[in-house]
Amino acid sequence: MCFLEKYVIKGGKPLKGEVTISGAKNAAVAIIPASLLVKGVCRIENMPHISDTDMLLTILKELGAKVRFIDNSTIDIDCTNVEFGNAPFDLMRKIRASYYLIGAMLGRFGKAKTTMPGGCNFGCRPIDQHIKGMEALGAEINVKNGFVYAAAPEGKLHGSFIYLDKVSVGATMNIILASVLATGRTIIENAAREPHIVDLANFLNSMGADVRGAGTDTIKVNGVESLHGGTYAIIPDQIEAGTYMVAAAATKGEVLIKNVIPKHLECISEKLRETGTIVQNFEDSVLVRASGNLRKVNIKTLPYPGFPTDMQPQMATLLCQAEGTSVITEGIYDNRFKYAAELNKMGANVNVEGKMAIIEGGHSLTGAPVMACDLRAGAAMVIAGLCANGETEIEDIHYIERGYEDFVEKLRRLGADICIAEYPDDTDKKDNVIAV
Ligand code: UD1
Repeated sequence: MCFLEKYVIKGGKPLKGEVTISGAKNAAVAIIPASLLVKGVCRIENMPHISDTDMLLTILKELGAKVRFIDNSTIDIDCTNVEFGNAPFDLMRKIRASYYLIGAMLGRFGKAKTTMPGGCNFGCRPIDQHIKGMEALGAEINVKNGFVYAAAPEGKLHGSFIYLDKVSVGATMNIILASVLATGRTIIENAAREPHIVDLANFLNSMGADVRGAGTDTIKVNGVESLHGGTYAIIPDQIEAGTYMVAAAATKGEVLIKNVIPKHLECISEKLRETGTIVQNFEDSVLVRASGNLRKVNIKTLPYPGFPTDMQPQMATLLCQAEGTSVITEGIYDNRFKYAAELNKMGANVNVEGKMAIIEGGHSLTGAPVMACDLRAGAAMVIAGLCANGETEIEDIHYIERGYEDFVEKLRRLGADICIAEYPDDTDKKDNVIAV
C-alpha cells in the first residue's frame, strides 16, 4: 500500500524567534526556463528548494541541460548544448509555470511544443494573452488536444507592440522570454509590475539582454543576438515572507523575518498594521509583533502593488480571530475561496458570496481534519492549525510543498508543534495536482 503525508499540528503556541526567507518561487519558476535562452553557465543563487523548482529542473535536464547543485540554494544550469526535442509532458502538465517554456523555447529554437499548463483550481485560467503576445511577435500557435504548438515561420521572432487586455504576470514574463532574442524592439503595454517580473528582467540583463522598464506598466525589450552565462541571485519570496508575518500575528507571537525586501511587503504590512499588529521594517528584515486584540479590515486583491491574491487565504485565517466583520474581495480570480469550507470545519464563520468572503470574526478555532485545497489555501490551513485549540490534521500537503521550503522545520524552529505523519493513499488524487 502507498502512503501519503499529512501535517499534524497541535495549536495554541505563539510563534517566536527568527525565520529566514528563501528565494522567490514565482521568480525562480521563470528564471529556470529563461536559462534555456543562455549559451553558457548560469549560476543561480538563492534558488528555493521546493517541488515546483525541482520539477522544472527535471524538465530542463530531460531536454539536455546540465544542472549541478553547488550547495542547497546555488545551482549551475548550462543549456549550451540543449536541442529541440520532446519535453517530459507528464511533468509539464502538473505545473502551471511550464507555460514559460513556450516563450523560452520559441526564443531559443524558434519553435515550441508544450502541454497546456495545470488546470483551473480557482476558476478559469486562460493563456490567451500569452498567445496574443507570441502571435504579435510572429509565432504561429496551435492549441490542440491539450498541447501548445508554436513556431516562428522564419525560425526567429520579430519585435512588436503588444497591449495586454488583462494585467497578467505570466503573459508579461512569457512575452519577455520570447522577445529577448527576437529581432528589433518589443513594447509590452499594460504589463504586470510584480517584483518577480523585475527579477526576471534583471536576470536576463545580467546575461546580456536589454529589457527596460520592468516594474512599470510599459516594458521595452531590445532584441540581442545572444545571451552569455553569469551569476545571479533570486530575490526573497514576498509570499513566503507574508505567510510568516501573518502566522506571527495570528498566533499572537513575535517573529523577525529575515532576508526580505520590506518594500515588496508594504501591501501586506499595511493591512497587518490596520489589524493592530506591529510591523517594524529594517534594512532586509521585518519584525512582526502581536499587540492586543485584532481589529477587522477589508481587503481587495489586486495586481502589484495592490494586496496579492496569493496572500488572501492566509489573511482570511487571521481575520477569523479579529473583532467584527471583515470582507475580502477577490479581484484576480473567479473562485479562490474553496478554503472557506475548511476554515468553517474548524469553527470559523466565513460566508462566500461571489467574489467576496464575509468573515465574522471572534470565533475561536478548534482543531479538525482539513485539506489543503491549493498551495496558499494550504498555508492558510497551517496558520489556522497553529492558532486552533487542539489537533489539526492537514491532508494534500503536496500542494504546500510546491511553494514553501522547509515549512515544517522553519515553523518548528519558531516553536510550533507540527510534524509530518503518513496515511494510506486510497485515492487517485496524486494525478490531479495543479500548481499556482
Ligand atoms: C501568477 C502566479 C500566481 C499568482 C498570479 C497573480 C506564477 C507561476 N503564478 O499566476 O501565483 O496568483 O500570478 O499574481 O507565477 N488571465 C487571462 N488570460 C491570460 C492570462 C491571465 O485572462 O492569458 C487572467 C487570469 O485568469 C487571472 C488574471 O488574468 O484572472 C491574472 O492572471 P496572471 O497574472 O496571468 O496569473 P498567473 O501568471 O497564472
